[in-house]
Amino acid sequence: MRFIQIEEYDHTTMQLARPIYDRQKRILLAAGRTIHPIYLERIKQMNISTLIVEDAESHGISMDELVDMPTWMDAIDEVKKAHDLAKQNKLLNVFALQVAINKIIFEVIRRKTIYLIPSSSVTEELKPYAHAVNVTLLALQTSKQLGYTNSQQRDLAMGTMLHDIGKMVTDDTTLHPEKGFEIIRKNREISLLSAHVAYQHHERFDGTGYPRKLSGSEILDFPQICAVANLYEHLISSGEALPHVALEIIMAKNGIDFNEKIVQAFIDSIPSYIPGTRIRLSNRQEAIVTRIQNNIHRPIVRVKNTGMEIDLSEELSVLISEILN
Ligand SMILES: [Fe+2]
Repeated sequence: MRFIQIEEYDHTTMQLARPIYDRQKRILLAAGRTIHPIYLERIKQMNISTLIVEDAESHGISMDELVDMPTWMDAIDEVKKAHDLAKQNKLLNVFALQVAINKIIFEVIRRKTIYLIPSSSVTEELKPYAHAVNVTLLALQTSKQLGYTNSQQRDLAMGTMLHDIGKMVTDDTTLHPEKGFEIIRKNREISLLSAHVAYQHHERFDGTGYPRKLSGSEILDFPQICAVANLYEHLISSGEALPHVALEIIMAKNGIDFNEKIVQAFIDSIPSYIPGTRIRLSNRQEAIVTRIQNNIHRPIVRVKNTGMEIDLSEELSVLISEILN
């Protein structure tokens, strides 16, 4: 199985490996099916640009670290409901959010790492909520590296799920952090630490952020984790950067936008190359990433011509020199 851009879809060689959902999160096309050209057009109109497919080239790549799709869709739905309630100036259904968060935490802690489903895999209406769930997955993955307790993870996740909720009551980007803080704070069952994720996630380590131009240790760790995850998710889902490039962009902002401890934990947690990525190796061979085993940045790859697997965590002289599309 692998991710492809919708333009690459070929109904003669590819089947869906995961279902496609409509905006009411009903299954539009089930896994195992091929996509009829008429449906493909409809999916494009819904602005779904990434598909998860099975084909001969990606055969045997199981992507066990891919987040469970029903769990992911349920969490997206809860984030959407919370945003709708905030828009109507109502209190949030904190219990329902906690249930979704507990499931997401379980997804992360039972795996060595996590592969995101890009928010470009869902319809336009659901993208902001898929973004929030993905930021949560990235934040939780980072939190394992930082040794967070379950209760810290739950507070962090509540904050990241709701970090952009202020956007429901203002169109002014510089105002939404504080608006979000106020919305979350009204819900007594939610920790103030979670509310601060919304408040501080646009602050920058060097003091150039907003709304309060906080710097250094004035910015709490939770919002800093959210800030790093937010940038990464945006770069990946918009297609602006491939995972290894997104990590490099984050490293470049180390000590400027973000604090070093958080950047280091993030880099140690998030893989550079996702299974299914077609690559060229430094020995000129074409290959495909099959899985991640020993080293998060040095995956196991399968050479195209020979079908032989190379574990890059052992073959240290073989480098990934190019991504093929
Ligand atoms: Fe934001």
